Amino acid sequence: MARKDPLRTPLCDSLGIEYPIVAFTHCKDVAAAVINAGGFAVLGQTQSTPDEIEANIRWLREKIGDKKFGIDLVFPASVPAKANVAELLAGIPAEQQAYADDIARRFEIPEPKKEPELYDLGWMSKEVSMKQLEVALEEKVPVLASGLGNPDFFVDSAHERGMQVWGLVGKQRQAKKELEAGVDVIVAQGMDAAGHTGNVGTFSIVPQVKAIAGDKLVIAAGGITTGRHLAGAIALGAAGVWTGTLWLPCRESDVDMRMKERLIEASSDDTSHSSCVSGYTMRTLKSKWHEEWAKPGAPSPAPAPYQLMLFAKMKQSAFDWGIKDFMTEAAGQGVGFIKEMKPARTIVSDMVDEAYDVFDEIVGDDE
Ligand SMILES: Cc1cc2nc3c(=O)[nH]c(=O)nc-3n(C[C@H](O)[C@H](O)[C@H](O)COP(=O)(O)O)c2cc1C
Repeated sequence: MARKDPLRTPLCDSLGIEYPIVAFTHCKDVAAAVINAGGFAVLGQTQSTPDEIEANIRWLREKIGDKKFGIDLVFPASVPAKANVAELLAGIPAEQQAYADDIARRFEIPEPKKEPELYDLGWMSKEVSMKQLEVALEEKVPVLASGLGNPDFFVDSAHERGMQVWGLVGKQRQAKKELEAGVDVIVAQGMDAAGHTGNVGTFSIVPQVKAIAGDKLVIAAGGITTGRHLAGAIALGAAGVWTGTLWLPCRESDVDMRMKERLIEASSDDTSHSSCVSGYTMRTLKSKWHEEWAKPGAPSPAPAPYQLMLFAKMKQSAFDWGIKDFMTEAAGQGVGFIKEMKPARTIVSDMVDEAYDVFDEIVGDDE
């Protein structure tokens, strides 16, 4: 009897893709390359203005034709309804502001040359995320992923427009709520992942979500950078993998070359799970900033979005002035497997080849 193709999952059928590999990326070129290589891509648009989002969607459509794609936005519950930069900066708690100033003084960090990137406010107010959402709905993006917060309030509007809604979760309880709200796909993200994560590892969260997902698809995320991880995710019950760190140092990526080098050199032990970057627990590459906020006597990081305002300024200075010890980026534990800068197409095909080798290794040969 012919063996079923383990990588031909229902996710492939639902999106019309060849391989169940989803790239989360902020870089349009990476998204286009992955989609054109037979995978799927979701473009992170949290830090883009509504006009930029519209332009990015149109650019992507030109590069990929009628293939499907996604965009990712976040809807955190705890950010202000409206915000402007001056008010947010003025609202940073005094203790944390003083500590960040003291770090800058002790390490002689100059002021940034440019406005820190995050000062365009990204996800820092509900007003901004609602405007971003309007564009996604108007453009009828095939997949709208919600990275933070329950997407229940827009599921119906998205479905009326023929769109899929995906929800990223780190806890089974959160998955249950989002499934009840009618999301189409749950991305079960373990704490091995880059970015905002909870405390549950990928090996636990994926089967926990699978157990309650019924006929809804589950995609595994967190620490996935190789074909062996892909094969493992399929074995855990996932219909595909959602990957972020993997694409940061790829050939097409617009990530700063100094950061690409650090990512390629980094081991799995070089990441830290801390709230010192954004106020929420977040996995990022270790840096002096992390060390300073972990010291005995350091204040707890400020709540979101204030800690991110403090961090954004430091990050901008670090990149503007080449202060390597303070450069950091969201990175998952799978970073330790990334050893060279490859084109996105090669990453996709290497991952697929390795996963098939792993399946062969498990099932063996009749002879
Ligand atoms: C640089 C970077 C920025 C990220 N920003 C977001 C974001 O804005 N929204 C979001 O939903 N996830 C974000 N993530 C998390 C990814 O969506 C994904 O869940 C994570 O990267 C998966 O883990 P991995 O990096 O180990 O593959 C980010 C990840 C990286 C690497």
